[in-house]
Amino acid sequence: MLVLFCLSWWRLIGVFGDSVSVMEGDSVTLYTDLTEICEDEDLLWKYGAENSLIVQINRENQISSIYDDVPDGRFRDRLKLDDQTGSLTITNTTTEHAGVYELHISGAKRSSKTFSVSVYARLPVPVISSNSSQCSSSSSSNCSLVCSAVNVSHVTLSWYKGNSLLSSISVSDLSISLSLPLEVEYQDKNTYSCVLNNPISNQTQHLDITHLCHTSCSEPDPNSTSQQDSPLKVLIAAAAAGSLLIVAVIGIFCICRKCKTTDQEVQSVCRTQALL
Ligand SMILES: *[C@@H]1O[C@H](CO)[C@@H](O)[C@H](O)[C@H]1NC(C)=O
Ligand SMILES: *[C@@H]1O[C@H](CO)[C@@H](O)[C@H](O)[C@H]1NC(C)=O
Ligand SMILES: *[C@@H]1O[C@H](CO)[C@@H](O)[C@H](O)[C@H]1NC(C)=O
Repeated sequence: MLVLFCLSWWRLIGVFGDSVSVMEGDSVTLYTDLTEICEDEDLLWKYGAENSLIVQINRENQISSIYDDVPDGRFRDRLKLDDQTGSLTITNTTTEHAGVYELHISGAKRSSKTFSVSVYARLPVPVISSNSSQCSSSSSSNCSLVCSAVNVSHVTLSWYKGNSLLSSISVSDLSISLSLPLEVEYQDKNTYSCVLNNPISNQTQHLDITHLCHTSCSEPDPNSTSQQDSPLKVLIAAAAAGSLLIVAVIGIFCICRKCKTTDQEVQSVCRTQALL
């Protein structure tokens, strides 16, 4: 009877693989689809191209072994086993845990199942900035913007106007920096957003036209104008400051002299100083 019950579960285990996606740092469970492991069954979990044995369950001898040091320690302290069903959980995943996992069940009948696990990195919020190099040259009614995301892989970066897609750019394997331009009119009242997404998550940045376009594009940058001052202008400014100082010194000098001398003497001293 028990054997019959167990045999009925064999059919649930197909040879076709399951695709499983997980966000980096999260846990992922690979389900055997067994309600329990039968008496005479051996269960093996293998990982990767080298078929490294990571878990072995021998129900008859009541032995469960986790080999989390193969192939290179990437599974250390990260494997959890459900002793009743044999389902395997990988905790705190990193992109190193992506790959193919194989479940082999042997006993009265043999069966196996493969799992293709994809681990996606957490996405940064994309950054919108004005492409200020274009401000002076292009027509003044348009504002040039660029949305960017650094060190990303397996993502798509897109511009949306309301809910409609305007443009997008994708990257697959490599971890690179992406940027996508957008031209808007200063007076544009539509809502624009830049979205970075991978197959399991997305991050959105909304465009604030008033802030980004009006401050850095239409107004001159006060820092850059001060740097353009000619040496002559600087000299004149210094001279002006210097003469102010001299006048102040004369003033103080005259007030002090007033205590000890007559008005006439003060006036003559002051006249002499002024002539200098
Ligand atoms: C998850 O793994 C990272 C390294 O990959 C480690 O720095 C972090 O402490 C781990 N977090 C937990 C909760 O174990
Ligand atoms: C900014 O505009 C210039 C001029 O059109 C262009 O060459 C450059 O690629 C733009 N920068 C970005 C990040 O799109
Ligand atoms: C972003 O993800 C949310 C769910 O988290 C989804 O509702 C939304 O449609 C996604 N947006 C895009 C543009 O993919």
